[in-house]
Formats: sequence, C-alpha cells, structure tokens
Amino acid sequence: MLCGGKKSYFAAAVCIITLTSVVTLSYLRLQRLPYLPKIIQEGSRCRGKITHSTITALEDNRTFIISPYFDDRESKVTRVIGIVHHEGVKQLYCWFCCQPDGKIYVARAKIDVHSDRFGFPYGAADIVCLEPENCNPTHVSIHQSPHANIDQLPSFKIKNRKSETFSVDFTVCISAMFGNYNNVLQFIQSVEMYKILGVQKVVIYKNNCSQLMEKVLKFYMEEGTVEIIPWPINSHLKVSTKWHFMQDGTHIGYYGQITALNDCIYRNMQRSKFVVLNDADEIILPLKHPDWKAMMSSLQEQNPGAGIFLFENHIFPKTVSTPVFNISSWNRVPGVNILQHVHREPDRKEVFNPKKMIIDPRQVVQTSVHSVLRAYGNSVNVPADVALVYHCRVPLQEELPRESLIRDTALWRYNSSLITNVNKVLHQTVL
Ligand SMILES: *[C@@H]1O[C@H](CO)[C@@H](O)[C@H](O)[C@H]1NC(C)=O
Ligand SMILES: *[C@@H]1O[C@H](CO)[C@@H](O)[C@H](O)[C@H]1NC(C)=O
Ligand SMILES: *[C@@H]1O[C@H](CO)[C@@H](O)[C@H](O)[C@H]1NC(C)=O
Ligand SMILES: *[C@@H]1O[C@H](CO)[C@@H](O)[C@H](O)[C@H]1NC(C)=O
Repeated sequence: MLCGGKKSYFAAAVCIITLTSVVTLSYLRLQRLPYLPKIIQEGSRCRGKITHSTITALEDNRTFIISPYFDDRESKVTRVIGIVHHEGVKQLYCWFCCQPDGKIYVARAKIDVHSDRFGFPYGAADIVCLEPENCNPTHVSIHQSPHANIDQLPSFKIKNRKSETFSVDFTVCISAMFGNYNNVLQFIQSVEMYKILGVQKVVIYKNNCSQLMEKVLKFYMEEGTVEIIPWPINSHLKVSTKWHFMQDGTHIGYYGQITALNDCIYRNMQRSKFVVLNDADEIILPLKHPDWKAMMSSLQEQNPGAGIFLFENHIFPKTVSTPVFNISSWNRVPGVNILQHVHREPDRKEVFNPKKMIIDPRQVVQTSVHSVLRAYGNSVNVPADVALVYHCRVPLQEELPRESLIRDTALWRYNSSLITNVNKVLHQTVL
C-alpha cells in the first residue's frame, strides 16, 4: 500500500529503508541459521562416556579436544579449546544433551584455527558453538557429523559454567615441561620468586620430567601452589622442539605450547585476577615496586582500559657467573643457581626483544606466546625501568665478553627471603 501509493519522497524513503532492513535481517538470520542448535531427539538419558583426559583424539584422528569452556562475553557459546589439522578438519558439530527432558541439540561449530601456526600442519583452534537458548548444558560431545549415537561419543564437561569470585590474584602458566626436565634448583628458585612477588598458583602442562623433579612437583601440589595438567601430546602427534616448522615431518610446534597457553587462560578466567604467561626460567622482576600487586595496580591506574601488559625479555647467560651466594648444600642439587647470574646481554639494534605477558584473562579471546591475537582490552608495553623479564638460560650473544654485558643485580634485592624459602623446600624434598 505504502510502497505503491502516491509519489511522495517520504513514502519512497520508508519503502527503501523497510526493504533494506528486511533483506539485512533475513541475511543475518541465514548467516546464523546453520549455527543454531537444532533438536534432533527427545527423552534421551544423556549418558555419553565422560572423558577426563587432557587431550582426547576424535575418531577422525585430526581433531584433538583439550576442554570446552562456557563463554558469554559476546553471545552464549561453548568454546572448545582444541588442536586441529589446519586443512583436514572442515566440519564439526557440538552435541548438547539438555536435562531434565533429555532433549538432544546439535549445533554446527565455527572452527577458528589460530593464525600463529608457524608453518606446522596442526595448530590451536577454537571450536565454537551457540548453545541452546533455554538450557545450560553441563557437557558437550564433538563429532564430525550431525548424525551419530550420542551415547557412543566421548562427553566433555563444560568448564566456567558457574561464575565464581576470584580465589587468587596471580596464576603463572608454564606451558610445557618436557625432555626429562631436571633443572631442579632453578625451578624451585623461580617458584619461590613467584610466591614472593604475589603468586598463589602455578599451572604446569607437564609432558615429562626427571624423578627428582617429580618429587619437587609433588611437594608443591601438596602445598597447594602447583597444579599439574598432564600433557601427553607426543602420544597423539609428532612434536617439534622448535617453535617454527623445519620441514621435518613434525605436526605441531614446541610441544603444543600455544594450545596449552590458551587453555590455561580459560581454565583460570574465573579464579585468577591476572594470568602470567612465562617459562620456568623467566621471572618478571619489578624494579619500582616490591611485588606484582603494587606494580599492577599502578600500571592499571596509568592505563585505563588495558588488559594485556607486555614485559621485555632480557637474557642473563648462565655461562657468566659471579661467585656469590655459593651455598654449599645447593651444589648437590641439579640446576642453575640464578643468584649467581646477574649480567645481562645488551639490546641489539636489529633484534627485537620478545615480550612476556601479564593479562586479565577475561579480556583475552586468543593468545599467542609474546602477544595476544584477539582481546577486548588494550595491550601496553611496560617500560624496562618499571619491570623486565629476568631470563637465565644459554646465551644468545655468545661471542660477547663479560665486560660487554650489563651488570644488573635487581634480583639480589630478594636474596634473603629467597634463600630462606628455597632452603625450606630443598630440605623437605631433595636434600
Ligand atoms: C589414529 O592414531 C592412532 C595413533 O597414532 C592409531 O593407532 C590409529 O590407528 C589411528 N586411527 C585412524 C582411524 O587413523
Ligand atoms: C622422559 O623422556 C625421556 C627422553 O626425553 C625418557 O628417557 C624418559 O623415560 C621419560 N620419562 C618418563 C617418566 O616418561
Ligand atoms: C662454590 O664453592 C665451592 C667450594 O665451597 C667451590 O668448589 C665452587 O667452585 C664454588 N662455585 C662457585 C660458582 O662459586
Ligand atoms: C641481600 O639482602 C639483604 C637483606 O635484604 C640486603 O641487606 C643485602 O644487601 C642483600 N645482598 C646483596 C649482595 O645484595
């Protein structure tokens, strides 16, 4: 009526606007439609086989499920952290079983392979499904097809379903302990430094370590500091010890580090105010504040809206030592004594110092190792006079003589509490 009526500019405008809106809305609906959960069965008893392993291969052998997480920051979805073959996995479906009436919903997943694959055929992926509107499923199964017998599929608990209040301020995520790890002294020193700086929880994705190290981990688990996530990735994929692909037939980089870090962020999203992503040989050392809590409140105050704080990595070669804090009982413990390594390599003009991060996990969607890929909050480069990453390892600039290194004893400020705390742990574990 209105559209076919008199020649009026007003009518024409209304007409165009209406048509455009109708077309846009139906286009958006169509876009969403394949992803909307559909009921395929009612009166089911919801008895999939609940899986507790950290890495579960699906039947296709090209999809590996780590864990599903509830995420309602944009819309109500289940986000499954996984590993997929970047080309081999085209379609996946989430199977939700809703109690009490046993309705089974199937929703097509969006498969988002993270961009930082570094040439490897397998990479971290978010497998994201819209959840049924009027149910909050507790478990989900993932399958290549919308047709199957749900009772036969492995079923995964959806974590983060209930909101919680923070139980800790800082959680450190150590992404992959592997290769018969036996750097016991440096590990204990790092954990004790984290605790001095304000950490209550250290999450370790453990592939493999020495017997002695097992003893230390057991002590820290009983203490409540360490949480071990078993990480048997090499029983599923050929892992590389390098971060980028060397054309050597391996499947995934650096023991699946990137997937572990993403899982760690979601695992701690509700319980930890901040998550710290670094390796066991790295310590973010505050230079103007006594600990991380004071440093982070100051950084947050200066940077409203920031959720990602990046700290410059600096190498303190373990080959250059200073004969101080030579504690005789420590000489019987395998590993580096960080108190003896206080010379750092100078910056190089043409080489970028990689960063390590302290993040607000609720502001991050996808992370890489030295930066985030997707986040709601901004990233801030923290100046090197506020804090730097003390990284004690083999040198990068091996040719430099000792005189060309920078003596930096910031770590020594903590010597007395560090020595006391390390001694306590050593006497209850390996000595
Ligand atoms: C999947 O991989 C495992 C271990 O690598 C192997 O034993 C199994 O035969 C594979 N299954 C398929 C369907 O390829
Ligand atoms: C850890 O890996 C090493 C080889 O890197 C192997 O010799 C050792 O048996 C493994 N230890 C365990 C407990 O699997
Ligand atoms: C520590 O002291 C012992 C003797 O007590 C000595 O043999 C050793 O070389 C010293 N180590 C360092 C790194 O100073
Ligand atoms: C070790 O710590 C104590 C107490 O904090 C301090 O007085 C001393 O100067 C520190 N030692 C060194 C070598 O920095």
